[in-house]
Amino acid sequence: MQIYVSKGCLDKNIKNISEFLKLDLVTTLPTSESYFQYDKDGLSFVGGSSNSRSLLHVDFLKGKLGWRLKRAQHEGNLKKALGKKDKKLFIFDATAGLLSDTMIFLSLGHKVVAVEQSKILFCLVNDAIQRAREKIPYLNNLEFLNDNSQLVYKKQDKVFDAIYLDPMYPIIKKSTKKRGSINNIKQILEIENLASDEEEIIDIFMKYNYKKIIVKRPLKSEKKYSNINYQVKGKTTRFDIYI
Ligand SMILES: C[S@@+](CC[C@H](N)C(=O)[O-])C[C@H]1O[C@@H](n2cnc3c(N)ncnc32)[C@H](O)[C@@H]1O
Repeated sequence: MQIYVSKGCLDKNIKNISEFLKLDLVTTLPTSESYFQYDKDGLSFVGGSSNSRSLLHVDFLKGKLGWRLKRAQHEGNLKKALGKKDKKLFIFDATAGLLSDTMIFLSLGHKVVAVEQSKILFCLVNDAIQRAREKIPYLNNLEFLNDNSQLVYKKQDKVFDAIYLDPMYPIIKKSTKKRGSINNIKQILEIENLASDEEEIIDIFMKYNYKKIIVKRPLKSEKKYSNINYQVKGKTTRFDIYI
């Protein structure tokens, strides 16, 4: 894979990303199935197939997530899942992904350590963080790491109020086929040989010491454990909470 840099956009940031990912920077459009693109809007991943390209770009200031962040107080289900109305929480997001859920936690005033195993997703998200940092002060309450969250959690001496788990699910329902970003994430995890049955992460974290675990699951999936303390149900997903 290569990183295609648009004219006039070569800077220190993309040189650091190229070193981190060990990928070459090029100035002619790659013909490969997937590549990165770096232009005035920042870093994007171009995936899909040669007949139908799809672009994955993270932006916290615009689009659907930007809009959700501006009205985060309306995120009733996530707020219910977190509980304790006014207390500012310290949250461990073990499946950071595109950071959407963590951004909601941060915008509600909580502090978060978020971990993403994929180097590609980490770079896309980290680039979005750098672009948004000046405009979104609560990003200072985030520690974002590229690693396996199980290893990171075991090394932490801090006590978290909640562990948040949103693993990928093996069954793609019709509705998720439309969700481009999930398919992009799947493709990226395959490229990095990280695609596996992520539900295992729930079993692993359940064995650790925790105050509260919040698991995001498809609405109709079976209960993983019977000792759920409460559930918060949305239209397509639900949160299972273990205390
Ligand atoms: C469904 S996505 C999470 C989406 C995320 N909640 C969001 O709001 O964008 C699941 C993510 O968890 C990551 N993941 C799975 N197991 C992990 C682990 N052990 N350590 C770090 N990241 C992990 C995957 O790489 C994937 O990006």
